Amino acid sequence: QPGAAENRHYDTLKWAGRLFNRLLFAEEGRQALEYALNDRGLSRKIITSFGLGYAPDQWDRLKKEAARSSIPAEELSATGLLYHNPRKNTTYDYFRNRIMFPIFSVGGNVVGFGGRTLSNDKKAPKYLNSPDSAVFDKSRVLYGLHAAKDAIRKQGEAVLVEGYMDVLALHQAGITTAVASCGTALTRHQAALLNRYCSQVLFLYDADDAGQKSMLSGIGILLAGGLTPWIATLPAGDDPDSFVRQNGREAFETYLSTSRQSFIDFQISYQESKGMMNSADGKSQAVREILSTVNLVRDPVQQEIYLREIEQKLNLSLAVLRDMLHDIGQRNR
Ligand code: UTP
Ligand code: MN
Ligand code: MN
Ligand code: MN
Ligand code: MN
Repeated sequence: QPGAAENRHYDTLKWAGRLFNRLLFAEEGRQALEYALNDRGLSRKIITSFGLGYAPDQWDRLKKEAARSSIPAEELSATGLLYHNPRKNTTYDYFRNRIMFPIFSVGGNVVGFGGRTLSNDKKAPKYLNSPDSAVFDKSRVLYGLHAAKDAIRKQGEAVLVEGYMDVLALHQAGITTAVASCGTALTRHQAALLNRYCSQVLFLYDADDAGQKSMLSGIGILLAGGLTPWIATLPAGDDPDSFVRQNGREAFETYLSTSRQSFIDFQISYQESKGMMNSADGKSQAVREILSTVNLVRDPVQQEIYLREIEQKLNLSLAVLRDMLHDIGQRNR
């Protein structure tokens, strides 16, 4: 149960979210709204249902608005909305000139924000997240889960994407099971969170090197959390947002159903792409790596099924695979 201080923080964050949202639809937010609608193709409906907003290009706007609403500056600091510069001993608004994405807890409280810059300045980080606070732990939230949880439970599967815009574009296209772990690698806490609603998770990360590597490490996190990962790879250079916006929902779903891979297949393709399957020692190392993810599977029947999949696809005997798996299990004890 949240204490009095936590409840005050929730009120403050909700107030800030409403203010940002009001500013997005005010005259001063016109460019930001045009960016959201025209450049990013977001609908008014999705902007409203996810409570998007606009943080103006000012150093003390939130601070001033808080004072007018009798919200103490300490509250803004405690919720990460003010940045404290220790050298100058001054504070200023943490989010400036950004499209704001409120991050909701499963229970529906605003616990933090993501903000995408509206500036072309290469020095401004493209995305900024609220710092962790008494009510915000990045490693324990999934963006969009508040809106996606019912659909995830119904379908038994979540679609895991990288970013805010990916979640929004998919929900807008009717794929309402999309969630994102924003700005962090997938954590075991997030896997546990998903495990409350589903047993399968489809990774749909950006089709770049970083995205592939993140999926590889995410596979282990999900398996260790008792979930079954699936992987879909987008055409090179795409992310879910760009793909669905260009091709539409139907093409997107067709693409997903044909490019969907088991995590074993994904790992085999990955090892092949690194040239690992061309020599005996390379193949041996690759198999060991794949088996170390199978080792994370908790259910023995599922482990057996995956071993048989590897047996067939890599043309190795089950006895050898079992032996190697056993070794890996011993070593990780
Ligand atoms: P990407 O780097 O893939 O964003 O980061 P993008 O697709 O290029 O951004 P757009 O489409 O131009 O807006 C994906 C996600 O990673 C997190 C954010 O959650 C972002 O949505 N991220 C990225 C950060 O938290 N900080 C960063 O500096 C970059
Ligand atoms: Mn990028
Ligand atoms: Mn990326
Ligand atoms: Mn993008
Ligand atoms: Mn991206």
